[in-house]
Amino acid sequence: MTTPRDQLMEKVVALTKRRGFIFPSSEIYGGVSGFYDYGPYGVALKRAIRDLWWRHMVDLRDDVVGLESTLIMPTQVWAASGHLTNFVDPLRQCLGECKKRWRADHVTGDRCPECGGPLSETRQFNLMFKTHVGPTEDSSSEAYLRPETAQGMFVDFKNVINSSRVRVPFGIAQVGRAFRNEITPGNFVFRVREFELMEMEYFVRPHQDDEPFDYWRKERMRWYTDVLGLNPERLRMYDHPKESLSHYSTQTTDIEYDFPFGWGELEGIADRTDFDLKVHQDHSKQDLTYLDPETNERYLPWVIEPAVSVDRILITLLLDAYDEDVVNNEPRVLLRLHPNVAPVQVAVVPLSKKEELIKVAREVQSLLQGRFRVEYDQTGGNIGRRYRRQDEIGTPFCITVDFDTLQDQAVTIRQRDSTLQTRVKISALVDVLRAGF
Ligand code: GAP
Repeated sequence: MTTPRDQLMEKVVALTKRRGFIFPSSEIYGGVSGFYDYGPYGVALKRAIRDLWWRHMVDLRDDVVGLESTLIMPTQVWAASGHLTNFVDPLRQCLGECKKRWRADHVTGDRCPECGGPLSETRQFNLMFKTHVGPTEDSSSEAYLRPETAQGMFVDFKNVINSSRVRVPFGIAQVGRAFRNEITPGNFVFRVREFELMEMEYFVRPHQDDEPFDYWRKERMRWYTDVLGLNPERLRMYDHPKESLSHYSTQTTDIEYDFPFGWGELEGIADRTDFDLKVHQDHSKQDLTYLDPETNERYLPWVIEPAVSVDRILITLLLDAYDEDVVNNEPRVLLRLHPNVAPVQVAVVPLSKKEELIKVAREVQSLLQGRFRVEYDQTGGNIGRRYRRQDEIGTPFCITVDFDTLQDQAVTIRQRDSTLQTRVKISALVDVLRAGF
């Protein structure tokens, strides 16, 4: 059954609150627009996304290494990278009743879409959050919360090549918080002001960018469909026309998803050439060139960069997975999440609270823990209700321990999507579950 597209976001937002995935930040004080907290299942889902990204971008490769740079970086970094002047959005403010601020490219005409009041002239608004380092608050102590993690990779480029055995082509990957004072945050966690970026700078020989650019476009698309299980029909690639490229890029492809509010960017893959290393070399007066041991040439490598936020993947996964159907004449809400990302992969549910059942259920739990993300659910009552709760958080498998288990050392695996139940020996359980992934 498919949920009407115009109700999908609303339903997903309600589910994430109800089941402890996402809460508005500082809600008891009224919340802050563009900031969200992640509850227990949200944390598990985020961690799964992050771990899968790291696994496929770093651990399963031998040409990418990791980095963690600071969230606050000095003004010089952002002056050199161009963010101080170019990381801006055009802003218009309502001069009428509501005083709301709008992105100029999101409104047509000269009237406020909310209250109909007149709109101000367009001015450029820098999206970076400014702060001060140390006890004095003057221009010499100014610094910025990073709007992207990428600059850390460029600023530390020399440290990485001098201290590790990487050779071009190679990548530096980083996962961490980024901050953007978005004028109009919205669509839940699709566009927020604090989010978690996952970026990889892949350094290649100058002018040898087309092949790796194409490789990363395809590789990233493959990851979404094969590893995260996103519906390929709702994904497409969008190649930016030259005039809409960021200030650092010569070619960019977005992997787009068909959101309920229209096609939107899920991930960007940008060809940044040697723009960043060059500007940092110029501004810092440090030699950032790389001596290629194969050609004996010195050069600034060019860069291909896949970049995406955990938050945007998370909302995409939830929208893609949300479904409603009818089981045993009762309506059911479920998340058809791929087992790779499900916050709980296996739930162990003893049929009753009888001590002898609980003992075995706890043994099954310890057998599975460490191998899968496991939840133990003994909250008495109807087993059907417990299944429904697991369906709603996207748990692909429930393991039921019943009185027969005491005789036959077997349990029931109940599958989320089909609700099919099969009996399996406890000794075979791990292998059977693994095969279901
Ligand atoms: N270093 C390149 C860069 O930051 P970007 O297109 O501005 O490029 C990369 O951002 C990705 O970060 C986007 O594709 C999206 O997944 C995510 N992203 C950007 N702004 C976001 C926001 N305000 N909230 C959540 N995710 C965001």
